[in-house]
Amino acid sequence: MPAKRDPLEVIATSPLARAVVSSPLGRSVAAKLGVSPAPELRRGRTLPAGPVVLAALHDGTLAARTLALLGIDTVAPVVDTPDARTVGESGRPVPPAYEGRIGALVLDLTALRVVEDLEYARGVLRPAVRALERSGRVVVVARAPESYDELEPRVLAQGLDGLNRTVAKELRGGATSNLVWVDPDTTPQALASTVRFLLEGRSAYVDGQSWRVAAAAVDDDVATAVRPYEGRIVAVTGAARGIGAAIARTLARDGATVVGIDVPASGEALATVVNEIHGTALQLDITLPDAGERIAAHVAERYGQEARLYAVVHNAGITRDRMLANLEEKGWAAVLQVNLAAQLRMNEALLDGRVGGLVDGGSIVGISSTSGIAGNKGQANYATSKAAIVGLVRAMAPRLASRGITVNAVGPGFIETEMTAAIPYLQRTIFQRSNSLSQGGKPVDVAETIAYLADPASAGVTGQVVRVCGQSLVGQ
Ligand SMILES: NC(=O)c1ccc[n+]([C@@H]2O[C@H](COP(=O)([O-])OP(=O)(O)OC[C@H]3O[C@@H](n4cnc5c(N)ncnc54)[C@H](O)[C@@H]3O)[C@@H](O)[C@H]2O)c1
Repeated sequence: MPAKRDPLEVIATSPLARAVVSSPLGRSVAAKLGVSPAPELRRGRTLPAGPVVLAALHDGTLAARTLALLGIDTVAPVVDTPDARTVGESGRPVPPAYEGRIGALVLDLTALRVVEDLEYARGVLRPAVRALERSGRVVVVARAPESYDELEPRVLAQGLDGLNRTVAKELRGGATSNLVWVDPDTTPQALASTVRFLLEGRSAYVDGQSWRVAAAAVDDDVATAVRPYEGRIVAVTGAARGIGAAIARTLARDGATVVGIDVPASGEALATVVNEIHGTALQLDITLPDAGERIAAHVAERYGQEARLYAVVHNAGITRDRMLANLEEKGWAAVLQVNLAAQLRMNEALLDGRVGGLVDGGSIVGISSTSGIAGNKGQANYATSKAAIVGLVRAMAPRLASRGITVNAVGPGFIETEMTAAIPYLQRTIFQRSNSLSQGGKPVDVAETIAYLADPASAGVTGQVVRVCGQSLVGQ
């Protein structure tokens, strides 16, 4: 007799069941059961298909100048005001609407001053959210709360976080909303990499997030480069599989020479990845006390005595899940050593100015996790290590600012890898569904966000943790 299967599993795997769920009636029933098929997300270096609507409050020009620098054409917004409404057949007022679908709304609120200004945001968002295409985008640009001296705009800027998170939750069809906080002197050149990342499919699984782009000197050609890593060497730990392999491939696509690092036991898989992208492999257990020195020596040996690393991506990580009641010192130490202590040691060695170490103007990227941000049953060791990465980013970014080195992290939610394939089916399905995009992310979604953070054009992005979680309900 065949084993009894979970109904969720049947829907997830059977073509017939998927077809039923895709019919209008099936969709409505499935939506009520919470099992409607997840929207397919636009990915890669692709802009929205429909027009990009640019709406600016008062005399805000930062978004307009940024889009012009990127060569992205824009159209004017439809704004819902009492005067713009018509009377429908039922006698009820009908809001103004776009003629067809729109690809994105970029909303510049940098001139926000008083509570009444927010009416403009509502008036622009109402028609836009109805018209947004699948995988469309809302990008809100506003000044960072702490960049204001006056009380009212400072408070309002924080309020936009609630607006953005709500828009992200209400949008459907894989569309996302994110909020970019800027400083008064952030230039279009410094903002360009962020706006382009958010409009493109590269940010597919980044939703409901807000982070800061500070003022930084970025040249026009750096701001608009499509292969920003050309001529730069980047080290990626844990590159043999999963997210690390995707990071290596994505950085190579964008021009990087990749040094892929993984344990000797994964040597074959590592070789396959680096050969494909013309990088070099370094078989190394990163918990060795001299791991940082060995990475620098590899760079000097392979690329010459003048060579320096442009960036290091600390991706290698492990889990040893146990409830605290069962957690012994071995499982505790293993996770803290790989996920945290090794990183601290490698950074120290790579930052001491040695041959093959990190160059000034370079970048460090770590990987946190929603488990670290929210805590997670059975992961006391892992959550501690991943929350510490948030601490590392915040502490190191100001210390390295004078050397022009950015320090950031991504916070992946549920990403489909071998690590998460080990989670029992039902729990996995629940994780996959517990976010605004109703699906797990792909390794490439994390990789694209890391490539954006370490991009030389993102010099104004430092000390930030960008969650790649589809607006996961965990840790909100
Ligand atoms: N998959 C997810 O949903 C998820 C969510 C949040 C965070 N993360 C984090 O993303 C990173 C990558 O996760 P993944 O799912 O791709 O994991 P994975 O287990 O598929 O890959 C991790 C890689 O790191 C390597 N590695 C482990 N210990 C090492 C060591 N001591 N020295 C060198 N290499 C070592 C492994 O050999 C492996 O190739 C990890 O830091 C993980 O904690 C993953």
